[in-house]
Amino acid sequence: MQLKYNSAYPSVDDLIKKAKSKIPRFAFEYLDGGCNEDVNLIKNTAEIRDIELKPYYLTKHTRSEMKTELFGHTYDAPFGISPVGLQGLMWPNAPEILAKAAYEHNIPFILSTVTTASIERIAEITHGRAWYQLYHPAEAQVRDSIIQRAADAEYPVLVALSDVPTFGFRPRDVRNGLAMPPSMSVRNILQILGRPEWALKTLIHGQPAFETLKPYMEKGMNMKQLGQFMNRTFSGRLNEERIAPIRDKWKGKLVLKGVASEEDVEMAIRLGFDGVIVSNHGGRQLDAGQSAIASLHPIVEKYKGQIQVMMDSGIRSGVDVARTLASGADFTFLGRTFMYSVAALGNEGGNHAISLLKIQLQQVMEQVCCERVEDMPNHLIK
Ligand SMILES: Cc1cc2nc3c(=O)[nH]c(=O)nc-3n(C[C@H](O)[C@H](O)[C@H](O)COP(=O)(O)O)c2cc1C
Repeated sequence: MQLKYNSAYPSVDDLIKKAKSKIPRFAFEYLDGGCNEDVNLIKNTAEIRDIELKPYYLTKHTRSEMKTELFGHTYDAPFGISPVGLQGLMWPNAPEILAKAAYEHNIPFILSTVTTASIERIAEITHGRAWYQLYHPAEAQVRDSIIQRAADAEYPVLVALSDVPTFGFRPRDVRNGLAMPPSMSVRNILQILGRPEWALKTLIHGQPAFETLKPYMEKGMNMKQLGQFMNRTFSGRLNEERIAPIRDKWKGKLVLKGVASEEDVEMAIRLGFDGVIVSNHGGRQLDAGQSAIASLHPIVEKYKGQIQVMMDSGIRSGVDVARTLASGADFTFLGRTFMYSVAALGNEGGNHAISLLKIQLQQVMEQVCCERVEDMPNHLIK
């Protein structure tokens, strides 16, 4: 895939500014915000950026190679797209746009249980390459049905989410009365009227809906019924008892996402997970938590080589990807960065963000004279 980006937006900050001007405030704030006072959100990126890398200019160096093998597949770059809920609310067709770009660039796309495209549609777009993120359903029947659908659609990796035992407290969403589909308060209508392209595209595309969950929902639910359905259907709290039937039923690779302690990694290994994603949900759940990169260090030290250790939360550029790999992560994911790009640039957003990240990472690897992704830790200063 040819690397091509729009030169008016060479950094994530440019994309954020543009996204903010293109989508209604309630949608932008849902994407952009953390939780409580945003302490964890800010720490995530700040602490990644404390990491320094050492170049070795006089070594024999031919070419830096970003290709990385993970779970039996060779990806073109050591980063992928984190699962994000309600994507169609931020930009119509956003999950489809990102899944297509991920497939074309040969990087993984993780589909969220609560986004606006179905398991089957994304499998079709990615030719069976996407990963699937499972919110833990309270009813065994729903759980088994979703897992079976992911298996039938040949998803290679199932990602069980552990860091939403309760919903994060997000003041902006509370203020905005965030709902799916968007509630029609005067405030929200004014915000929508101020974003005519978003409004028109949403009108043409149709109201966003939880496509994967449709078979389990009654038709024509109102807002209140939808909220009750969500509370009834999902119980985010994972434990040994709830993991065992998932591991039993799922024959592919199994990953635990939302890991922030060595204890959880120890348990993940014991319960037969193939990988963990060290993550704090992009600072959206526990404002008093550690940054993801701070959680990563002791985990890598103790468990690297025993289980695939991946990380997301706070990564905003190819340099951040390099810093995270140098800290010992086997692979990285980004959530908001890709969504800012789609909200800013629509159909071009997926290709733009992936190209930019690949170009930036290649530049850092060439600059420090690192030929292979797995050698990045040799360049870590601190
Ligand atoms: C708007 C938004 C919605 C999210 N929805 C989900 C979700 O449905 N499932 C999930 O596992 N993680 C979800 N996450 C967390 C991301 O998968 C990921 O962990 C996080 O965005 C990484 O941090 P970053 O945005 O700083 O890259 C969401 C994150 C954002 C920003």
